[in-house]
Order: sequence, then C-alpha cells, then structure tokens
Amino acid sequence: MKKTILAAASTILLLAGCAQKSEMDKFVDDLLSKMTIEEKIGQLNLHAAAGFISALKVTEEDENVKMLRAGQLGGLYGTSDVSYLTDIQKVALESGHGIPLIFGLDVIHGHETVMPIPLAMSTSWNMQLIEDATRIAAKEASAQGINWVFSPMVDIARDARWGRIAEGGGEDPYLGGEIAKAYVYGYQGRDGEYSDNDVLACVKHYALYGAAEAGRDYNTVNLGRQEILNGYMNPYKAAAQAGAGSYMSSFNEFEGIPATMNSYLMDDLLRKSWGFDGFIVSDATAVMEEVAHGIGDLQEVSARSLKAGLDMDMNSDGFVGTLKKSLDEGKVSKADIDRACRRILEAKYKLGLFEDPFKYLKPERNSTDVYTKENRDFSRKVAQECQVLLKNDGVLPLKKNAKIAVVGPLANDGSSMAGTWTMSSHAAESVTILQGIKDAVTNPANVSYAEGSWLFLDKELEENVKYGMIKTFMPDVPTPPLHTVPLERLISEAVSKARAADVVVACVGEIPAMNGEGSSRADISIPDAEVELLKALKATGKPIVLVLTTGRPLTLVWEDENMNAILNTWSEGSEAGHAIADVLFGDVNPSAKLTTSFPRMVGQLPLYYNHKNTGRPHPDYAPYKKFTSCYIDVVNAPLYPFGYGLSYTTFEYGEPKLSASEMSLDGNVKVSVDVKNTGSMDGKEIVQLYIHDIYATSTRPVKELKGFQKVDIKAGETKTVEFTLTSEDLSYYNHDLQWVCESGDFEIMVGPNSRDTKAVTLTVK
Ligand code: BGC
Repeated sequence: MKKTILAAASTILLLAGCAQKSEMDKFVDDLLSKMTIEEKIGQLNLHAAAGFISALKVTEEDENVKMLRAGQLGGLYGTSDVSYLTDIQKVALESGHGIPLIFGLDVIHGHETVMPIPLAMSTSWNMQLIEDATRIAAKEASAQGINWVFSPMVDIARDARWGRIAEGGGEDPYLGGEIAKAYVYGYQGRDGEYSDNDVLACVKHYALYGAAEAGRDYNTVNLGRQEILNGYMNPYKAAAQAGAGSYMSSFNEFEGIPATMNSYLMDDLLRKSWGFDGFIVSDATAVMEEVAHGIGDLQEVSARSLKAGLDMDMNSDGFVGTLKKSLDEGKVSKADIDRACRRILEAKYKLGLFEDPFKYLKPERNSTDVYTKENRDFSRKVAQECQVLLKNDGVLPLKKNAKIAVVGPLANDGSSMAGTWTMSSHAAESVTILQGIKDAVTNPANVSYAEGSWLFLDKELEENVKYGMIKTFMPDVPTPPLHTVPLERLISEAVSKARAADVVVACVGEIPAMNGEGSSRADISIPDAEVELLKALKATGKPIVLVLTTGRPLTLVWEDENMNAILNTWSEGSEAGHAIADVLFGDVNPSAKLTTSFPRMVGQLPLYYNHKNTGRPHPDYAPYKKFTSCYIDVVNAPLYPFGYGLSYTTFEYGEPKLSASEMSLDGNVKVSVDVKNTGSMDGKEIVQLYIHDIYATSTRPVKELKGFQKVDIKAGETKTVEFTLTSEDLSYYNHDLQWVCESGDFEIMVGPNSRDTKAVTLTVK
C-alpha cells in the first residue's frame, strides 16, 4: 500500500495590501450604489478602437464615443495613440459617473522595441532576462497610454502544427509556470502597487487553448481533468499566484462547454482553488462565437458566460446588448452583474485610474521611454540568449575575414525578424541578418547577397500565406504579383555567389504570417522552394550554415543530414541581425535550449517529452517492433528533444548525488551534480533536473522537469550545481484530483537535455 500525503494548498500572494483593499471596497461600494444597472453592464463591455491602430480621432460619429456617452463602454483596446486615448478618456469622465476607461493592447513580445517571440524567449531558460524584457515592454506601453496588456500567453502546446505555439513558452508545465511568473512580475512589478511603468497583465488563453485537437486553431480540446491538472494548468496557476490581475478566456471548449462559459475552469479552479481575485475578459468575439459552438443565441450564451464567471465581453456586444433583458427575465441576477462590475472597477482602482485617469497619458514619455537605444540594446542582449544551436560540425563560429555568401529570402527581411504580433512596432526596421553580418565582419565587401528563392512552389499556397489577411478581409483588393524573378534564376544567382564564397549562410524558414493566430500548418517542413535552394547550395560543396527563422518546431531531417550547422533563431526582434551575427562569429557563445520537441515527421504529433509509458512501451530510439507502441516508418524519438541545444564548448556531467537516499513524505533532499566545461570557450549551461515516479497510484510521465539552473562555467572549470527537491516537486494530481505525494521509489535525473540524463534512485517513505 502506498503512503500518501495531501500536499498543503499553495498559499496565494494577495498583492493588494489589506488597508488599500478596505478603502477600495468602500469606494467601489459607494460607486456601485450610485450606478444604474445599464451603467454597470456598460462597464462589462470592451471594444476595439475603430481603425485598429490607424490614425484615430474622437468625433461624435465614432461608435465608441456614442456608446461611451450612453454609459455602455468599460474599456477600449487596440491603439496606443496617446492623443486619441486622452481625448476619449475625457469623454469617459464627462459621461455618467465619470468612470475612466481601461486601455488594453496586444503587447506580446515588446511594444515598439521588439523582443524575440515568446517561444524564442522561453529557450533562454533565463527568468530574470524574461522579466527584464517584459519590464521594457511595460515601460514602453505605459508611456503610450496602455494600462492593460493582453499577455502573457501561457498555453502549453504539444503540437507544432498549432501556429500560436510561437506565442507561448513551450510544452512543459513546470517551466511554463516559471515563465508565467516572470512575465507577470515584468508587467505588474513585484510590490503589488501599480507605478506609472506597471501595467495590468492578462493571462491567456484560459484555458487549454494550446491543446487544440490536431493543432488546428480554435479546435476542440479533448482532455480529462487529471491530465489538464498535471500537464497543462500549472502556468495559469503560477500566474495567479504571482498576482496576475486579469485573465482572458479562450476560444476552445473543454468538456463540451466553451471555456468562455466554463464555470469549472473560471470559478472552481481559477477563483476558488487558486484564489484569483481579478477579472476575466473573453477573447475577441468569444461570447458571440458560443452561438456557433451550438449553445444558444446571443442572449443565452451571454447570460451563461456571466453566470459562469466571465466579467468582460470583448467585442461581441453580448453583455451590453442582452444582459438587461436577461435580468428582467430572471436569467441573471443583479448580484451577478454587480459582482462582475465590481471586479472591473477594482482593477481600475488598483491601477490608480480613479485617482488620475491620465496617469498613463503622458505624451512627454514617448521620447524618453520608447524605442530608445537602451531598449534596443537590451533587445539584442535578450536575442543573444534565444538562439538554439541545433547542429554544428565545426563550421561555426565563422571567421570575420571569411568570404561569406548570405542567401535566402529571409536574409534581408526585417519584418520576418520581428515575428508575429508586432503591430505597434517598427517591425520592418528590425536589423536583418545580412545587415548584422555586414556590421560584424572585418570587410563588408567580403559579404555577398542573393535572395535565392521564393517561399513555396505552389503560388496559391504562397498567396494564402502572404496575403491571407487581405484575401480574407478585403477580397476585392488586388494583391501585388508574388514574384518578378523566376525561381530558377534566383537559385542560380545564389549558387554563383555561393561558389565564390568560403562559406554560405542560408537564411530560410517561416515568415511571421506562417505562425501565430490562424496559421496552423499540416506540413511543418521548411517551405519547399527554400528547400530547392538548399539542395542547389548543397551541390556546390561549400559549407552551409542554415540560419533558421521560425515560430514553431519544424521537421528538419534532411537539413540535419545535409547542412554543416543549423542555428535556430526564431524571430529575434528589433536587433535580430546583430544578435545573430554575435552568435555566428562567436562573440557570444550560444546557450539556448529547446522548450518544445522537434519531430522528425509531422505524423509523430503531438510529441512531447513528458509522455506516459504504455503497457507495451517502446524505447524512443529502438527500431520497429511489432505489437509495441511505435511506428513502422519512424522512430518514436524527436529529432531534437526538449531541453536540447549545443554550445561552442562542451560540458561533461558527473553522476547526480543525493544528500540522502531516503526522504520522508513531507521532507526534502538535495541533488547535486558536477558539470565541467571541457572545451576551450567559456559558456553557459542549462542544467536540468527531471523526476520519474516509478510506481504511483495513477500512471505518471516517463520524465518530468522539476528544476533547472543556467550557470556560467569557464573553460576548464567544474561547477557543482545543487537543487533542493521537496515533496511538492514529487506531488501530482491523483485520480481523485487531489494533489498528493506518494511513497515509493523515484528516479531523479540530471542532464543537459531531456534525453541524455543520468539517474539516481530516491526512496520516499
Ligand atoms: C486573440 C487574443 C488577442 C485578442 C485581442 C484574439 O484574436 O486570440 O490573443 O489578445 O484577439 O486582439
């Protein structure tokens, strides 16, 4: 029989001080007592600013101005035009009880200064760096009127077909939790007060959006409660514990109920179990979309969403249009409306908007705080730590006096360096790879360039990718011709540049429109026209460094066999080209490691390292064997596993040691390992700690990350890295959904990635 201990419920840090809370309560009580029911419902309404980012002007014809005057608007999102926001805030103050608007924006990885995409940032495994990068985003956004950002996205994703994997922190719930906290602290600060530089975070997409079946965006989620609690929910929970002020409900359904009206997710878990006391906004038009889910008409779904715990309706006008009727018909109560309204007013109070509605509307901050050299320099520093070296036969680092052919459609493309969700940024100004290389070499004349290829051979596919927005929203607008130069000519120009060079840097991969929202892919290989280019380059016999731009894991089997080096640079932001050159030439030693498994074939998806065993297990790298859990045509193992990434130096791991081989159910134990830098260059290593619960009362994953440390180790130096493992780390949600630590043996593993670990046994009694 197993001994079990119910682990203590985690304590929630209620960041708003108690004294402030009672003052706030009095203030909000008083305000609520004066508001009409229509005004209260109005606070629950969030609209996009008309024009979405284009020049805006407050006029009496503006739909948002009309609604505001009628007390039907609680917030606006989608613009950081300070003069517009100032003017419309004035309208808010003149209307009804003069309640200020909250201003939201999708600040996903930086604002005007672009940081690497979130998936790239996660590969730094550097929480301080993520927090600091996020602080810059908060500073820039808050300098332009924004007090609420629709970030972080903490959805766990195990399927690289899903385009929004680019916006998250990868496949692991433990790492995802640490990352979620770093973002919340970065946006909101750590002291529970909102200073002028702090903005309200909005954790999204709650919940399980990343588990969309088959990686198809918005698709159904088919998972059980035990699996979501163990495999997916930790980042959302960690964000609540870090004090996140708001959440955004997701588009998908869970257990047959859309997340936007799912009381188990919003009320039972988020509020009651984790103690979240902020407000929940729907995703854009998600309330309206519940009608298409087949739940009921707009009135029905709006009423059910409110009752389930949703507080604010983004862009559906479901709340504002139907809740009064539902109140009259007894479908919702006054208390339901008051509760939601109170949460919105509390957020505005905490942000300090009642005290100073123009707190974030200081135009003079634009020149001192936004897109400064300092911020861009920091973006470069971040990007240096977000490049995963996937292969290197010794061709890297490059010599600064070599003759280099920089080829490929992504070599001279700034926007692709910025990545998805960069609408408030100077995306096109991002430093290109070509520019970064030219700035780094001893003589720029030694650097040649050729565009090299199209994206896809199939024109319709390339049009869908490049002009998808236009074709969807403005089908009558003619799109420019895709190509003016035939593919063969582009390739032959690149080949002649390659022949004249010592080394080729081939810049290929995804453009930003191929990942992010609404960009799921069923084939996740490098676009085929680019592969034609790579094949032609390979035929020259010149060494090739593949610099990969991507927002998701790709299938790279051919590239791994045929390229001399592969540096995965994702989309690295404003200073991409400089940061990439820093790594290519060895001024910076690469240190990033994958936070998502890279499959060999798309048919392996979903693919994740922390999978379960089956009753007929099959070792990851073993060849085909009938009647075991494997494929005929590919091994189970990924091409590059979770946690993997190379350096220009090498690290050797000793055997892990435990401070004691036994631990009590509520005890802890120290795990240590010696890591030696056996190469000739100083480097950073991400040391990873995994556990495996050998026998538990429910089945457990073969490996689970429970700790990591990023350490600087000088050439020749050995460092002892120590972790403290507690019963919390060994706990999981059992079949009864209780968080328990069970007695028995655990494998404790340490290594440079999820594959190459060394184990020691710990007995828990
Ligand atoms: C996305 C959200 C985003 C919202 C507002 C939605 O389509 O799913 O991530 O925050 O739009 O722009």
